[in-house]
Amino acid sequence: MSKTTVDLSLATRPSDADAVSGLIKDLDGLNQNWKEENEETRLKMVVKARSLLQSLLTPREQMVQHTWADPGLDAALITGVDVGLWKLMVKNGVDAVHKVDDLAKSLGMDPQLLGRLMRHVCAMGHLVEVAQDEYKLTNFTKSMSLDVIGDGYVCLLGGIGRSPFEFYKFLRETNWRNPVDAAHTAFHASYNSTVPNCMLYLGTIGMGPQMNHHMGGYRQGRLPWHHPKIYPVEKELFPGAEPDAPLVVDVAGGLGHDIDEFRRKYPNHPGKLILQDLAPVIEDAKDIDPSIERMPHDFLTEQPIKGARAYFMHSILHDWPDDVCQKILARLAEAMKPGYSKLLIFECVIPSTGAYWESTAGDMLMMTQLSACERTEDQWHSLIEGSGLGLKITKFWSSGLSAVENVIECELA
Ligand SMILES: C[S@@+](CC[C@H](N)C(=O)[O-])C[C@H]1O[C@@H](n2cnc3c(N)ncnc32)[C@H](O)[C@@H]1O
Repeated sequence: MSKTTVDLSLATRPSDADAVSGLIKDLDGLNQNWKEENEETRLKMVVKARSLLQSLLTPREQMVQHTWADPGLDAALITGVDVGLWKLMVKNGVDAVHKVDDLAKSLGMDPQLLGRLMRHVCAMGHLVEVAQDEYKLTNFTKSMSLDVIGDGYVCLLGGIGRSPFEFYKFLRETNWRNPVDAAHTAFHASYNSTVPNCMLYLGTIGMGPQMNHHMGGYRQGRLPWHHPKIYPVEKELFPGAEPDAPLVVDVAGGLGHDIDEFRRKYPNHPGKLILQDLAPVIEDAKDIDPSIERMPHDFLTEQPIKGARAYFMHSILHDWPDDVCQKILARLAEAMKPGYSKLLIFECVIPSTGAYWESTAGDMLMMTQLSACERTEDQWHSLIEGSGLGLKITKFWSSGLSAVENVIECELA
């Protein structure tokens, strides 16, 4: 019969000592065939390496890591972005040795304080200690100097970081129901806020640009939607496209990273490219090619561009529960031309088993901040086809890579 209690000694022994040798062998086997461009092998090695670390750590150590070390690391990383530490270190020399006293002087910080922060960042593996209070950057801390990497810490953790930690209180109040009300989320409860959602809230506290930088960072290193391994635009979109008509409308396209990359990749594309988002975001979208039309538009209102070849949405529907998604989809379905327009949704499709950690992380973020979700294939079918809007999914276009979104291609039925 299975035991029904846990002996405390379990918490102080390696979590899975028996698994260690097998995991080292698995890692070694994967490493034999690994070349840096082989992304799928690298991702498998990351999962194995994490299992190895977790097997070696005791449950007690994991508790200290999750409750002390990780929040402490985040505190130091956010402070480093806010005060300009990472940028200063890069400016003083990417590969130089940096003395805490010199950095503290330049930043106007108490050297004792900065020394304590950097000591923890180093103990967690993100700085190299050269001597007492002297450090070199790792590739990770070098990257923290880039807005697209560093700003996510400030806005998601500094700006709205309470929501996931207080999610359990929100669930208590809502009787542990799956959250699906965009107007009543853990964010609203944690911040006692009446702003419609956490993205707009970030704007009200001056963190809109940081959030947009974070969206730019999230997509780095991932295949874009128009990569031939995902959605072959030259075969699927260009043939039959009317020459001077809208080709792609990037709905809620943020600062325009996706549409600008598309233009760079396909400079001879037919038709016009249009970037839409809320007015303040469009005002900030200054770095895109002038040939791309920038249009303020609220996707809950009538879509002004009718009969485009494609309406594209990246990381939008996962921000909203089904009822709001249906309103967004309705405005697009009304504008689509039957037999010509396509709706291309670039989002995660969570498999029924073996979900990838970045997808489940996205689901947790959406749930704890927005009462929204990442969707499975069945959930996509029921959202798109069960909404009575006349839309049908024609194909899930997938690269086969776990860490990349699918293009969910839809047409009017
Ligand atoms: C998660 S970001 C995705 C941005 C972009 N598609 C990307 O992948 O980088 C969500 C975007 O939706 C925009 N948004 C939120 N509410 C909107 C609305 N009512 N109408 C239009 N855009 C909206 C935000 O301004 C933001 O740029």
